Amino acid sequence: MSAEREAAEVATVEAAAEAGPAEAAGDAQPPAASEGAAAAASAPPLRFLVLTGFGGYDKVKLQTRPAAPPAPGPRQVTVRVRASGLNFADVMARQGIYDRTPPLPYTPGMEGAGVVVAVGEGVQDRKVGDRVMVLVRCGMWQEEVTVLSAQTFLMPEAMTFEEAAALLVNYITAYMVLFDFGHLRPGHSVLVHMAAGGVGIAALQLCRTVENVTVFGTASASKHEILKENGVTHPIDYHTTDYVEAVKKISPKGVDIVMDPLGGADTTKGYNLLKPMGKLITYGMANLMTGPKRNLMALARTWWNQFSVTALQLLPANRAVCGYHLGYLDDEVELVSGVVSRLVALYNQGHIKPHIDSVWPFEKVADAMKQMQEKKNVGKILLVPGAEKEN
Ligand SMILES: NC(=O)c1ccc[n+]([C@@H]2O[C@H](COP(=O)([O-])OP(=O)(O)OC[C@H]3O[C@@H](n4cnc5c(N)ncnc54)[C@H](OP(=O)(O)O)[C@@H]3O)[C@@H](O)[C@H]2O)c1
Repeated sequence: MSAEREAAEVATVEAAAEAGPAEAAGDAQPPAASEGAAAAASAPPLRFLVLTGFGGYDKVKLQTRPAAPPAPGPRQVTVRVRASGLNFADVMARQGIYDRTPPLPYTPGMEGAGVVVAVGEGVQDRKVGDRVMVLVRCGMWQEEVTVLSAQTFLMPEAMTFEEAAALLVNYITAYMVLFDFGHLRPGHSVLVHMAAGGVGIAALQLCRTVENVTVFGTASASKHEILKENGVTHPIDYHTTDYVEAVKKISPKGVDIVMDPLGGADTTKGYNLLKPMGKLITYGMANLMTGPKRNLMALARTWWNQFSVTALQLLPANRAVCGYHLGYLDDEVELVSGVVSRLVALYNQGHIKPHIDSVWPFEKVADAMKQMQEKKNVGKILLVPGAEKEN
């Protein structure tokens, strides 16, 4: 056992004492430890991550539970997880500034990919051995997970587990924002913020599926080459350049679509950049986050600068403002499944391909979160239950 692994196992025991048994919050939480008492003695314990409190990186702990034969209930399947996604919302959740989480302690993780190892009663469309992508509210940062079969999607044959774990949240979000709300069409112009991140790169690739779309993308300068490879027309380094001026210099009338994951004052700037008939879709509040812990000043500033508009102002402006939150679409199974089918088709046709930034073992979840929070990632950050990969 490596020193790192050993340290993690010790952390497990400490965390278990600190956190108590994981509550069955959401539909993909690990079963309580006692349920695994009858586990085959030879099987290694199953590893899972737990958010034990709100705060810094140390709040996510690695724990283990005894392996037990999977016992999915009716309409459920058990999946052996091969990779799971880290999302901006997971980092916000750790700081206690994300609204769509169960009570503490719980296992985070909204998406992942793996192999079906057991199916429950009434499951017709999945069988043992199927390679699936999973989309849930939380619980995917564990080695084995039991979810409703409706929360799983068959992986295309050519897709790797890492790509599959990187697809759902980022590409569903980018797709619905651009096409369902944005109504992206040939000749349109789009402003994509956080363009080198998970959702950002997904958006760039999706814009490329429509003819003659001009894409302005904001990101740190070191990431601009990757932006260009993924189809950005005008990369903008928002650290050194006023992006409003940069857009207006090239396109004085503004843009047709603003993708707004930032919130606060940036929503107002985005709204003012819209052409007639333009749409702003707000889908995140990244401006709330300024460091490893919750920053009350940033919360107050973002809240104070919150954009608001009345129907009377919208009417003569010929603009639309939309809000998008995938976390509140969990009952819309048909709607979301339809989007996933279209994304799978685009993947099979070679139009989209998740860009993986880095892959981290569960032990290094703090480093994985730092990678995102310190703005180092280009594309998707993944967690794997097994051994460490090159980062
Ligand atoms: N509403 C929904 O359903 C939904 C679903 C998925 C994601 N989202 C939102 O979409 C946005 C992107 O999410 P993601 O998971 O793809 O993350 P991501 O873009 O991979 O996030 C990390 C990158 O964002 C940029 N960034 C900008 N402001 C930041 C800040 N305050 N702190 C840290 N990084 C910051 C950094 O790149 P630069 O070098 O370019 O600054 C960083 O590398 C987030 O706002 C997220 O909440 C919403």
